[in-house]
Amino acid sequence: MTDLSRPTLPGALPDKRQVAASFSRAAASYDSVAALQRAVGLSLLEQLPAGLQPSHWLDLGSGTGHFSRMLAERFAQAGGVAVDIAEGMLLHARHVKGGAQYHVVGDAERLPLRDASVDLVFSSLAVQWCDQFASVLAEAQRVLRPGGVLAFSSLCVGTLDELRASWQAVDGLVHVNRFRRFEDYQRLCAASGFEQLELERCPHVLHYPDVRSLTHELKALGAHNLNPGRPSGLTGRARMQGLLQAYEAFRQPAGLPATYQVVYGVLRKPLA
Ligand SMILES: C[S@@+](CC[C@H](N)C(=O)[O-])C[C@H]1O[C@@H](n2cnc3c(N)ncnc32)[C@H](O)[C@@H]1O
Repeated sequence: MTDLSRPTLPGALPDKRQVAASFSRAAASYDSVAALQRAVGLSLLEQLPAGLQPSHWLDLGSGTGHFSRMLAERFAQAGGVAVDIAEGMLLHARHVKGGAQYHVVGDAERLPLRDASVDLVFSSLAVQWCDQFASVLAEAQRVLRPGGVLAFSSLCVGTLDELRASWQAVDGLVHVNRFRRFEDYQRLCAASGFEQLELERCPHVLHYPDVRSLTHELKALGAHNLNPGRPSGLTGRARMQGLLQAYEAFRQPAGLPATYQVVYGVLRKPLA
């Protein structure tokens, strides 16, 4: 089992116990609002190297198990394990037919798997929650067999910038999760010992009729602001009015935009 009690660094990502609790709470609502997550995971699946035939795969940060089921369909002869830090997500995933054979609570930075035990680590929109991406890479490297593939998607700086800027105009406090810079993904992947097959950043822009639709969606996904330093308690009426007003400056014909800067990485562990 993972030690979730490690304190977070000042100004770093949220406490892992809070991340786990927030995603566990969101397990029942997640699938109904996960359109972007579906599109990103599908795109990541399409980027898997042609001819890849894992005998064992790992879905890391598997959430409700949607992509575990797709992996199980695609690699019908292979065994699969789903690892997530949120037990509630795994309990939800276990009840749906198909998918991983094993569901294990664990942390991407300290995987509960043996060395050289899988041929594919698939991880869609989970590792942005990890403080130490270098540890995620090292762990993926450890559990992969030589020639195995790590395919991940994540979020980087630029994500939810409209919301961040709008809050900034209201009170200057941290209301939006922090993200790593794309250049840090590049640097860490280059230093990881993996062979880089793909590493790119793609913007996805979603549109909402109003700010509340966006913030409700983030909450239903379990992905609302959990950062240390976030304001506590309810958002006051005046501040909320200020936010709505500030966000209007971004309005486009399609609605209020919310930009996600998505990182896609496909890396291979060298054969020797
Ligand atoms: C946005 S959801 C994505 C779920 C799924 N991969 C999908 O695309 O639908 C992020 C998932 O990552 C999990 N997660 C967050 N931090 C994690 C960590 N350190 N180790 C393992 N899973 C983590 C969360 O509990 C959540 O289920």
